[in-house]
Amino acid sequence: LAEGPLKGRHILVTSGPTHEPIDPVRYIANRSSGQQGTALAAALRDLGARVSFVTGPATTPPPPGVAVIRVESARDMLAAVEAALPADAAIFTAAVADWRVANAAGQKMKKQAGKPLPVLEFAENPDILATISRHAQRPGLVVGFAAETENVIEHAQAKRARKGCDWIVANDVSPATGIMGGAENAVHLITEDSVEDWPRLPKAEVARRLAQRIAKDLT
Ligand code: C5P
Repeated sequence: LAEGPLKGRHILVTSGPTHEPIDPVRYIANRSSGQQGTALAAALRDLGARVSFVTGPATTPPPPGVAVIRVESARDMLAAVEAALPADAAIFTAAVADWRVANAAGQKMKKQAGKPLPVLEFAENPDILATISRHAQRPGLVVGFAAETENVIEHAQAKRARKGCDWIVANDVSPATGIMGGAENAVHLITEDSVEDWPRLPKAEVARRLAQRIAKDLT
């Protein structure tokens, strides 16, 4: 472990998409690459933290020097996060699927001539950030992310209160910003009583600044 202000601290980071099974060979997913969570885990590691990195099936490989816990579905992710507690801080960058398939099949669904087409039914997934924010073993600092396309600050402030977390890192992902899938990010750090507008920066630099803010809060 690196020397640094986070030495001796345990920090949990969720990252990537989740996969929600339809049957043993098919799933529903989203386009999250895991870039932001991976950069953040690396930045926290560089400040000396022991990092538990709970990741869905992301295209970005996990960083070296962190404990990687691989999961598939939202429910798996919640179980892995709870199993990794206690932690000094938890940062939720994962793009968790809002819904899972309620009528997932135990065997591969077969295409059969003349048979009706399958109909998928959905059930709501647990909200991991909200669950951990109200958990008996709640980490001292809980941080969520919010991707919005309008009224970014107002929506993120409401989300912070609703989820019960300490901070929300909010960004505008309107197509014109080029932020979604791009190399840069422009975020607002929203706390209970403040809003900080950060400049547009490379995503790795946003991660480094956020790690420094977390270190300042924990020490
Ligand atoms: O409600 P929304 O999906 O916009 O909230 C985003 C934040 O909540 C992110 O930090 C995300 O990781 C977290 N989240 C979660 N579990 C869910 C949905 C979102 O932890 N089921």
